Amino acid sequence: MMELSEELIFGLIDAAKKAREMAYAPYSGFRVGACIVADSGNKYTGCNVENASYGACVCAERTALFNAVCSGERSFAALLVISDSEDITFPCGICRQTLLEFISSDMPIICCDKNGAFSIFTMKELMPHSFTKENMK
Ligand code: THU
Repeated sequence: MMELSEELIFGLIDAAKKAREMAYAPYSGFRVGACIVADSGNKYTGCNVENASYGACVCAERTALFNAVCSGERSFAALLVISDSEDITFPCGICRQTLLEFISSDMPIICCDKNGAFSIFTMKELMPHSFTKENMK
């Protein structure tokens, strides 16, 4: 597992804050930014992209993940999420399921408040008893 140094985390916070600036959130007004680190060491960002047909809205975590997958990445070391909330922001249930297709259950998810104060959880803590391809054997 990649070491989560302070330097790495601060870099992720910075990148996710920049991505948050790009959020397209005219309906909720809730801007979210995310940054995912691949095992290659490359970092990919994403923001939430909303739609007049609300069900078509996509979260920042999934745009970050899909951005990485579109660049050929298939394995990941960490993901960080930040919004404008005073409280830390957690990935929604759909994002947790989507992430589980590619990440291990012990991958750290760094959840920040709007200023970058963070708590770290493993995916397993956020999504116990999950359904993945391992359950289809
Ligand atoms: N949202 C995210 O981008 N990530 C989360 O972890 C929670 C929710 C977005 C979806 C929608 O654009 C807005 O925040 C309000 O739900």
